[in-house]
Amino acid sequence: MRYHHLGELPRKHHIAFRKADGSLYAEQLFSTIGFSGPMSTMYHINLPTEVSSFEDRGAIKRDYIEEEPLRHRHFKTAKMKPHGDAVNGRVLLMGNHECEWNQVYVAEQMKTFFKNTDGDEILFIHDGKGELQSMFGTVKFREGDYLVIPRGTIYKLQFETLPVRMLAIVSYGPVSIPRRYRNEYGQLLEHAPYKERDFRAPSELVTIDERKPHEVLIRSRHRLTSYIHPYHPFDIVGWDGYVFPYAFNINDFQPITGAIHMPPPIHQTFDGNGFVICSFCPRMLDYYPDAIKIPYNHSNIDSDEVLYYCNDKFGSRKGIEEGSITMHPLGIPHGPQPGAVEASMPHTRTEELAVMLDTFHALKIAKNALSIEDPDYWKSWQAKS
Ligand SMILES: [Fe+2]
Repeated sequence: MRYHHLGELPRKHHIAFRKADGSLYAEQLFSTIGFSGPMSTMYHINLPTEVSSFEDRGAIKRDYIEEEPLRHRHFKTAKMKPHGDAVNGRVLLMGNHECEWNQVYVAEQMKTFFKNTDGDEILFIHDGKGELQSMFGTVKFREGDYLVIPRGTIYKLQFETLPVRMLAIVSYGPVSIPRRYRNEYGQLLEHAPYKERDFRAPSELVTIDERKPHEVLIRSRHRLTSYIHPYHPFDIVGWDGYVFPYAFNINDFQPITGAIHMPPPIHQTFDGNGFVICSFCPRMLDYYPDAIKIPYNHSNIDSDEVLYYCNDKFGSRKGIEEGSITMHPLGIPHGPQPGAVEASMPHTRTEELAVMLDTFHALKIAKNALSIEDPDYWKSWQAKS
């Protein structure tokens, strides 16, 4: 991300920065990858180290199915019922040692602040709108937004209406913009499918100077700890740097199209350790004479592929509905179902809208996913006899 700043800052780092009463603000360096990655510097009214009490709130359950046969999977999130808030309503569907995919059908507003130190979060807002209220300031969000929240950010989501469908992908490594889209200075290149203007940083810093107890629920080591601070956690009067939450709308992704079918990396939106996130957006289809408009059969021999369908208009796939998730594992080929190639030939455009997670190590399916599974999906490639 680029440099951004909000609020009041002293002239230089690490010099005295005083309040109106002459006392010092508390400087905090918010650094990543030790002291070598992107970082931000912030100035608190209170000591960020001051805590009134804390309490263990138990382990975050990650119940994966360990022994099962290899097959293509289809999960129907439309079967889920609204439940919980944007954090405690997360239903883990799959994951590995580098990331996890949580499905959320948010029923309630968050009552406490949340901080995830196990990973960066990529939240995808399928529908609804509201505000991401954070220690770095407020980011307004709407349908189709990805919200990228760096680990350690204290935040709360406030929705305008509920329920809201949402994905919560947790990345145990840092989330970034693909290197090939950027020049050596970090600026987005002309061939990138988006530009800096498409990324919405916090626009307003909300500083609350209040001495009364506030709870922050911290996720760390796959456990939750409740921290009670004797002040409001949004007590920052100014910050600057490269680490902050931001929004990017899937409809601002500029699809790259070609005469002949272009491979999935052209859809890449974010990069993580051991995975990529891609956006499949409405676009013109391949225009070379006799070009086949949908993907060929392919074996991602070393990557699992998960697609979340925001609508039911995915040309190469039959039987999916809005909110479907397909999971095509490494080791077996996948491709269009019988008849889909011929059916696609007359089309010049697709209206598909989908989010894809491709992981370079196998994903485990969580037990939660079984209750929304279409167990016959693997048969959808069988020829009709
Ligand atoms: Fe694929």
